[in-house]
Amino acid sequence: MKNFVALVLFVSLLYVCDSSNYEQVEHNYEHDLDLGPDGYVMGSIWPKPQQHTKGNGLFSLSPLTFQFQSTGEESDVLSAALKRYKTLTFPDKIPPCNVRYRRDLLALTSLVVNVKEKYAPMSFKMDESYTLNVSSPTSSLIANTTWGALRGLETFSQLVYQNEFGDFRAREAKIFDYPRFHFRGFLIDTSRHYVAVPVILSHIDAMAYGKYNVLHWHIVDDPSFPFVSETFPSLSDTGAYNNVTHIYDPDDVATVIEYGRMRGIRVVPEFDTPGHTQSWVSIKNLLTPCYSGGVPTGTYGPINPTLKSTYTFLKSFFSEIAKRFPDDYIHLGGDEVSFSCWQSNPEIAAWMEKAGFGKNFSLLEQYYEQNLIKIVGDLNKKYIIWQEVIDNQVTVNPDTVVNIWKGGWQAETAKVTAKNLNVVLSSPWYLNYISYGDDWPNYYKVEPTAFTGSSSQKELILGGTTCMWGEWVDGTNLLSRSWPRSLAISERLWSSISTTDISDAQDRLREHRCRYLMRGIPAQNGVQTKYCRYEWPGPV
Ligand SMILES: *[C@@H]1O[C@H](CO)[C@@H](O)[C@H](O)[C@H]1NC(C)=O
Ligand SMILES: *[C@@H]1O[C@H](CO)[C@@H](O)[C@H](O)[C@H]1NC(C)=O
Ligand SMILES: *[C@@H]1O[C@H](CO)[C@@H](O)[C@H](O)[C@H]1NC(C)=O
Ligand SMILES: *[C@@H]1O[C@H](CO)[C@@H](O)[C@H](O)[C@H]1NC(C)=O
Repeated sequence: MKNFVALVLFVSLLYVCDSSNYEQVEHNYEHDLDLGPDGYVMGSIWPKPQQHTKGNGLFSLSPLTFQFQSTGEESDVLSAALKRYKTLTFPDKIPPCNVRYRRDLLALTSLVVNVKEKYAPMSFKMDESYTLNVSSPTSSLIANTTWGALRGLETFSQLVYQNEFGDFRAREAKIFDYPRFHFRGFLIDTSRHYVAVPVILSHIDAMAYGKYNVLHWHIVDDPSFPFVSETFPSLSDTGAYNNVTHIYDPDDVATVIEYGRMRGIRVVPEFDTPGHTQSWVSIKNLLTPCYSGGVPTGTYGPINPTLKSTYTFLKSFFSEIAKRFPDDYIHLGGDEVSFSCWQSNPEIAAWMEKAGFGKNFSLLEQYYEQNLIKIVGDLNKKYIIWQEVIDNQVTVNPDTVVNIWKGGWQAETAKVTAKNLNVVLSSPWYLNYISYGDDWPNYYKVEPTAFTGSSSQKELILGGTTCMWGEWVDGTNLLSRSWPRSLAISERLWSSISTTDISDAQDRLREHRCRYLMRGIPAQNGVQTKYCRYEWPGPV
């Protein structure tokens, strides 16, 4: 029945489209630059490619017959991507009524994708480069890895645009592209507010459209513990806002990881300790009991670093995390450890005296981190930590990544890189702070290497992580608040250092925001677009 309706609809459209006003809507395409709603030239690319040579050719594409083919190494990721990008490149389900392929335009009939290397898992320094030759009749996309092919497919889908008559077009181009920074992260916070899995998946799609490649999943924190641990089920049973509806069970977590893998996006979970752990209270003796006037108050502080049982628990807990999350890295948090509860506790004071720490609680924090890092290192995982761990003089492995989030990031970056440690920058990119008007240029203008240091220090900047903390964010506004604002950062992290033209960026950002609406992402109007061809909720 459904097919029958579709057929009737399609045939009647063909009929209407065959009506004779063809010549009337025909116009001179000689020097055609199809313009979008805000006067920008359509078919622009975000983030801007490293090398893009534009030709004079203008090609027409038929959504009905266009082919995506693979002639190189195959993988599940690539074949799913070729299917997905067919829809993303030709978003209209039925071509608009007045679709027509101009007789004098050369046809672009296929994209041939060639991946050179056998499928290898995503890793920290995966090769995301690609070469794209947009030509007639066949375009080619060559990449060393599947991950590069994914980025190239995204670029191709942006190059193809639909003009005001509904015709699909692409301009001749030769593109060689690769990211300036390997680490292009996006932090979501699912502890302060729960975010349903389908919204997280849409967010991963949105990340792929902007060439982000790491989902930093700040999955638990003080307010709630939605992650279901198979080893310690009490954590979410008592720590989730609701232990039936507001949890991520093993299937949910696996779904998010797999969805990311299909799009070339690593999922790095953050289990932040020893602070930010109020929701872990179900684990007996894990958190420090706070005292007042020599008696326990019934409240708890950070994890208690002085007990052997703490490390037995952490070993067992992180063994599970290491298995559940395949990425090489785990984010271990380590920020904002408040000393007041530790200070109030007489048993901790006695232990510290014995350990020779005196009253120096930095040493206690250091002791905790040192043990944790040893545990996680022994599980063959690498780690990312917030800057305080380094600020507090903890000795870390050389491949540790330091996530800088506080003010004064230039001085901190200089300090951390002087210790020969890798940096991921977040300080200037807290998108949970909002204001009136478009704020994306502020994020765009940040140059991560603009600190005082040698060129080898600057090479230690691996990239950055955009943060969308969840105090005021849940499933209703995660997508709209993140997009298109965070695209400013994805271009900063992908494109060349000389990509700084705000007005050129604005034009491309406007078109890309309209693409997000078309693709089902409710990207807010943060770039002063007058209108999009399809306003939310996109094509009906
Ligand atoms: C592929 O790898 C080679 C050798 O490392 C490199 O020169 C090239 O730029 C890479 N990318 C593409 C798209 O060929
Ligand atoms: C690009 O593709 C066209 C048509 O397939 C071909 O003639 C041309 O040689 C290609 N250019 C490069 C640089 O591969
Ligand atoms: C789930 O939460 C409810 C309500 O807080 C609680 O009564 C129940 O004990 C929890 N389930 C488990 C298995 O802990
Ligand atoms: C505490 O220990 C740290 C790390 O060794 C040291 O840098 C700091 O000066 C000490 N603080 C005090 C008050 O002694």
